[in-house]
Amino acid sequence: MFEEGYQTIALDNLLNGHKDLIKWGEFVLGDLKDIKLLNSVFKKYNIDTVVHLAALTSVNESVQFPAKYYKNNFQYTLNLLNVMEKFNAGKFIFFSTASVYGEPDSIPISKK
Ligand SMILES: NC(=O)c1ccc[n+]([C@@H]2O[C@H](COP(=O)([O-])OP(=O)(O)OC[C@H]3O[C@@H](n4cnc5c(N)ncnc54)[C@H](O)[C@@H]3O)[C@@H](O)[C@H]2O)c1
Repeated sequence: MFEEGYQTIALDNLLNGHKDLIKWGEFVLGDLKDIKLLNSVFKKYNIDTVVHLAALTSVNESVQFPAKYYKNNFQYTLNLLNVMEKFNAGKFIFFSTASVYGEPDSIPISKK
């Protein structure tokens, strides 16, 4: 993305992330639960595309603490989508989980 001339901004609460691994663009330390912060980021930068990777991903923990996962992965994603709508940031790329597709007949999964 960087080589293509895109300006990137990474927002992460660093709960499971590592700042050293952010090699390009700007970094904002923050959480998707913080609607005020999201508004200020979208106000500061003219964001047209969001790549959403900010999820909790432990299956075991999600079974143990479903409300925590519901909040982080669903409710906080809605925060982001609402702010995106407000600022007309139209493109949203969501990293779902391959688990929702079931068992594939072959790997890699074909388009057919
Ligand atoms: N690893 C896989 O095999 C895989 C497969 C399919 C999809 N995904 C998806 O890709 C995305 C990234 O997965 P990963 O394996 O790199 O996990 P990861 O835990 O390494 O990355 C998730 C990042 O999101 C941050 N984060 C979590 N909640 C946040 C919040 N509320 N606000 C701000 N930052 C927050 C964490 O600190 C972490 O840096 C997830 O959406 C996951 O569901 C992963």
